[in-house]
Amino acid sequence: MSLRIGDTAPNFDADTTTGPINFHDWIGDDWAFFFSHPADFTPVCTTEMGRTSQLAEQFASRGVKPIGLSTDTVAEHVKWIDEVNDTQNTNLVFPIVADATLTVAKAYDMIHPSESETAAVRSVFIIDPNKEIRLTMTYPMSVGRNFDEILRVIDALQTGDKYKIATPADWTPGDDVIIPPSVSDADAKTAFPQGFETLRPYLRTVKI
Ligand code: BEZ
Repeated sequence: MSLRIGDTAPNFDADTTTGPINFHDWIGDDWAFFFSHPADFTPVCTTEMGRTSQLAEQFASRGVKPIGLSTDTVAEHVKWIDEVNDTQNTNLVFPIVADATLTVAKAYDMIHPSESETAAVRSVFIIDPNKEIRLTMTYPMSVGRNFDEILRVIDALQTGDKYKIATPADWTPGDDVIIPPSVSDADAKTAFPQGFETLRPYLRTVKI
């Protein structure tokens, strides 16, 4: 059965490029960006690993730890990281899970047999400090992910948690946000003393 938003992220023990981890302990009080890729020494994956590494400060400033996974070994990951660093001009330090037995990939439904029986598709799980899955995305093997969107959705989730708001289409930080319909006008006046705009009773926007 596939994992859904709101589920607890399955815990696991695994070897990674930075040593053995217990996943929940490793997340600790941070958020996690857990992403799978089909295989080491492949072109699209190389660019994704490089991009994640280049964005290290962006992830850290949001309290998010990246962690990759493919169904290869630690020894293969380590050799490949050298090539990622070389070709993508970076210094990759986040862990990559070695999952040659497919144990973790299967627990996270990252194996889509019509694509491959042995390689993971490009899955993303954004996991919060309570170990709750807050977002899932699945991309095919041939399409590299958009890391601006990954950072944007982390910003939207964290802003939503902080202000109890929702975010409109194409929102980016600084844009107006939406007051959820579950919040009465009276409660909205208390929560947002700066005032809000009512376009329809169900569509109220506010600057935060
Ligand atoms: C790639 O990373 O380039 C890739 C991996 C598996 C299938 C297709 C592309």
